[in-house]
Amino acid sequence: MTGAAVRAPSPADDIAEVLVDADAIRAKVAELGARIAADYGGKDPVLVSLLKGALPFLADLMRQVPIRLSLDFIEVSSYGSSTESSGVVRILKDLAQPIEGRRVLVVEDIIDTGFTLRYVMDHLQQQKPESVRLVALLDKPARRIVPIGIDYKGFEIPDRFVVGYGLDYAERYRNLPFIGVLKPEVYNRA
Ligand code: IMP
Ligand code: MG
Repeated sequence: MTGAAVRAPSPADDIAEVLVDADAIRAKVAELGARIAADYGGKDPVLVSLLKGALPFLADLMRQVPIRLSLDFIEVSSYGSSTESSGVVRILKDLAQPIEGRRVLVVEDIIDTGFTLRYVMDHLQQQKPESVRLVALLDKPARRIVPIGIDYKGFEIPDRFVVGYGLDYAERYRNLPFIGVLKPEVYNRA
């Protein structure tokens, strides 16, 4: 090849503003992990994570919780446009192991209206676990319709649609190492 190298477009090029940078995420995840380890040491919890958005958070968080624990996954979809959830939740993938009698810690990326988490928490409670608590990296309280208690909360953010660190717009941007807001023109692309 000759001449100047042409750089492939990066998802970071579409970001207008970074709301939470990678260092702030790292520090918060360490703090949450220490609290969870202190509360759950010796209790053999199962971390139930919601695919796909919570994956980077789970991967980083669990390594900050140096106690005996196990993992399981649920995948849900909510019908609606890509930036608004509709309140209709459907389970795409359910738990692989029974949780009866277990201490469950749900690991979620963001609580917005609360519809998704309410549905998931009810679904888990029906299986008679010893307890169910919630850790959420982000909370958008201005948008809440269904009340949800967040036992371990990372950051409260304003009412803006965010991407990165697992969060997507139309399945893109999950791999950004920070949380940011897209440039307005991104939403106008075909
Ligand atoms: P809720 O049911 O309205 O609380 O929505 C929860 C789900 O919607 C989250 O698990 C995310 O998948 C998605 N979501 C909510 N807000 C955002 C956002 O700002 N960016 C990306 N996804 C979001
Ligand atoms: Mg999610």
